[in-house]
Amino acid sequence: MEGVFKKIWKLAIPYLKKGKRKDFLLHTAGVIKAMELLLRQEKGDPNILIPAVILHDTGWSKVPRDLQRSNNKSKVEKVMKLHL
Ligand SMILES: [Fe+2]
Repeated sequence: MEGVFKKIWKLAIPYLKKGKRKDFLLHTAGVIKAMELLLRQEKGDPNILIPAVILHDTGWSKVPRDLQRSNNKSKVEKVMKLHL
């Protein structure tokens, strides 16, 4: 990962750690790797796509912990909107 992306990654870590539905650090690291592979095969601007991937689940930091872990269907729908 290039230097500017590492800086974004470091800034995103505290927000990703607040996500409790899964290990968002591990998940996001995997999505970054997948995007890097994709960018080797397809056209795309890494200066947009890599930061977008790093930040895509940071919104979970704003969702209350109890709602993140809920399996209640209506709560899950609410949570999916809240994390955006
Ligand atoms: Fe995700």
